[in-house]
Amino acid sequence: MSRADAGGTPWWAGAVIYQVYPRSFCLADPDGRRRRLAEPGASRFAPPDGPLRAGVGDLEGVRRHLDHLARLGVDAVWLCPFYPSPGDDFGYDVADYCDVDPLLGDLGDLDRLVAEAHSLGLRVLVDWVPNHTSDRHPWFVESRSSRFSRRRDWYVWRKGRDGNPGLPPNNWRRAFGDGPAWSYDDASGEWYLHLFLPSQPDLNWSNPEVVEAMEAVLDFWLERGVDGFRIDVAHGLGKDPALPDLPPERAWLPVAAQHDDERTHPILRRLRARLDAHPRAPVALGEVFLLDATRVARYYGAGDELHLAFDFVPMFCGFDPRCLRRSLQQIDELLSPAGAWPALALSSHDRPRHRTRYGGSERRARLAAVLLLTMRATAVLYAGEELGLEDATVLEADRLDPGGRDPCRAPVPWTPDPDHGWALEGSRPWLPWPPEASTRHAASQWADETSILHLYRELLALRRTEPALRLGELRFLSSADPLVAFVRSGGGRSHATFCNFGDAPVRVPADALGSLGSPTLGQVVLSSLGRPAAHRDEPFDGVLGPEEAVVTRLAG
Ligand code: GLC
Repeated sequence: MSRADAGGTPWWAGAVIYQVYPRSFCLADPDGRRRRLAEPGASRFAPPDGPLRAGVGDLEGVRRHLDHLARLGVDAVWLCPFYPSPGDDFGYDVADYCDVDPLLGDLGDLDRLVAEAHSLGLRVLVDWVPNHTSDRHPWFVESRSSRFSRRRDWYVWRKGRDGNPGLPPNNWRRAFGDGPAWSYDDASGEWYLHLFLPSQPDLNWSNPEVVEAMEAVLDFWLERGVDGFRIDVAHGLGKDPALPDLPPERAWLPVAAQHDDERTHPILRRLRARLDAHPRAPVALGEVFLLDATRVARYYGAGDELHLAFDFVPMFCGFDPRCLRRSLQQIDELLSPAGAWPALALSSHDRPRHRTRYGGSERRARLAAVLLLTMRATAVLYAGEELGLEDATVLEADRLDPGGRDPCRAPVPWTPDPDHGWALEGSRPWLPWPPEASTRHAASQWADETSILHLYRELLALRRTEPALRLGELRFLSSADPLVAFVRSGGGRSHATFCNFGDAPVRVPADALGSLGSPTLGQVVLSSLGRPAAHRDEPFDGVLGPEEAVVTRLAG
């Protein structure tokens, strides 16, 4: 695929990326799985027989549903980790960066997936997990083997605080469960650092050999044709070798949610230069989990670090017009002048789905879809949100994830039958189905033109045909709660989005009209609640139903 679309705009600017969590997307090839797991050594990391093994999705399941993505109209798919992994963090504990977990497929499956995605016009991003490996990764096994091992310095080893072996070297806390970000290794009498689970030791990015080894991983996937990388914990890489304590008032918060060290920026600049030099100009979409737009913006550097950085502040807003308006406006003010693009998402594999966070209402989920997909951003959809899925109820006995994230990782239902299009062969899926799976699945939603799925499809089609909605500038209109309204304009065209967060009808006030720069509120293009087709292209009367969003086309 070419570097950029006509006009020199990179393909990812204002694009829509669809996040697939392969374990939860679809299982299509259980025979292939059995065959692969029967090969000698293949099960080294795989869980023992049982639901976790049988009921997990695979890469072939992703390939078979690429037509769903193409029909929906997204630009790219981001695949969460599918690498060999013991599964303590379901793939984010990588034991081999250059292979596919036999549970999920093999390199041939991945190659077929990439080729088919490309033939459908979809780009493919893979998840690059540079901050840490699994403790079963051969690099760590070797590092741990002795204080004098050749790879000792590939990870972050320290003596106990003040020489006391019983005390962790500093006050950092890990994510997932309460505990220090350090584990003690009896054999060598030293501690190793892990921002996440003890089985996810942090790599030492100040060691040039680590940099080279992880760059070789990028090259491996680029040679297989991928179009870019989602970078896990991009803000975590650089570390002060003195590993100073966090100030006591912040020390309770996991370090992964606040680590922001200058040493990360040269690492990202080097990475960016490498990617930009590649003929396909692969994209770097970084996870920068700092919940502070100003700090996140710094990860774009001077246009020479990440191409895109997730800003998660809007994801933490709730169904709250003030919070959303404020955070979206701030992000735009920070990034637009530099021509940078925010990466925004409503849901992910790490947070409750937004419909669930918003109280379970589909109306609210529809409004949020209109807001996100008419915003100036590269939008990232989490698989299943286009079906309006809610989180599953996961009973205590069925919980698997140490970070409590099972409910949003419920399997995606494709069809009405009890296995919902998964080749389960009598086994249970690895997590329970989401609510209403027998009626709320892809097949029923494609068949129903009024479904939320068709709302997403329409929004994506609109974004494709109206460059102002994809690439245009953003201007918020002066409006008070419960209304959020903004205009996107470019290439001589303008669209306005009006969102009523209230549960009563509302009329767009005259002062909003004043700041619109247009004599009218425009012609209705779509409504989150699907106004009857007859009302489309009619002048918008300015009245929004409860929790309704309307997009209009403004005159000339
Ligand atoms: C990122 C991932 C999350 C994972 C963590 C550790 O935050 O999104 O799922 O658990 O990194 O790799």
